[in-house]
Amino acid sequence: MSGKPRHFSQRIKRMKTLKIVLTGGCLLFCVSLGLAEEIDGELVKRGRYISIIAGCNDCHTSGYLLSNGNVPEKDWLTGDILGWRGPWGTTYPANLRLYMNSLSEDQWLQVARTFTPRPPMPWSNVRAMTDDDLSALYHFIRYLGPAGEPAPTFVPPDQEPPPPYATFPPPPPPMPKNP
Ligand code: HEC
Repeated sequence: MSGKPRHFSQRIKRMKTLKIVLTGGCLLFCVSLGLAEEIDGELVKRGRYISIIAGCNDCHTSGYLLSNGNVPEKDWLTGDILGWRGPWGTTYPANLRLYMNSLSEDQWLQVARTFTPRPPMPWSNVRAMTDDDLSALYHFIRYLGPAGEPAPTFVPPDQEPPPPYATFPPPPPPMPKNP
């Protein structure tokens, strides 16, 4: 007879403990979510800024340069079908949305420090960035998410690329020497 209330109060106690554990867990979870969002928000903001001022959009966002940047952000950095033709062949700005989606942040930092893509990709500018800037750029592009199609494949110098492409003029002839 006396076992019943004791059993009952034990259950209540257990439920209270469970409640405390759950509330604590939820609190921790929410606080960490909040922090993560705050950090990501800052990184994304900085990455957006870098992609604008470092000129990544100029080539990697179709139509960006000629519209003075008037392209909706959801279409940014999806690469371009406009080829760049020169003595190196014809190159196409990569789809960075797909590119970053296939790399971890560490892999990106590694790539950015070692890659030497063909012209006119200004890779030395990317290499001059700090780890923090590279990381911000990565988080911004991952935040935009994968979208678009892969850019056309490189066309070797001895082959005719399909239009559209921009041609780099041949280098100027050497200056005449003074007599
Ligand atoms: C003047 C045009 C131009 C600008 C500006 C530019 N890129 Fe590129 N980018 C290219 C072209 C063209 C390619 C393809 C090169 C090739 O096929 O070798 C490329 C390729 C890349 C690749 C792929 C490299 C690989 O190994 O496949 C990455 C990553 C990249 N660019 C990042 C950037 C970032 C980040 C910025 C801004 C700091 C930027 N690009 C600015 C033209 C540009």
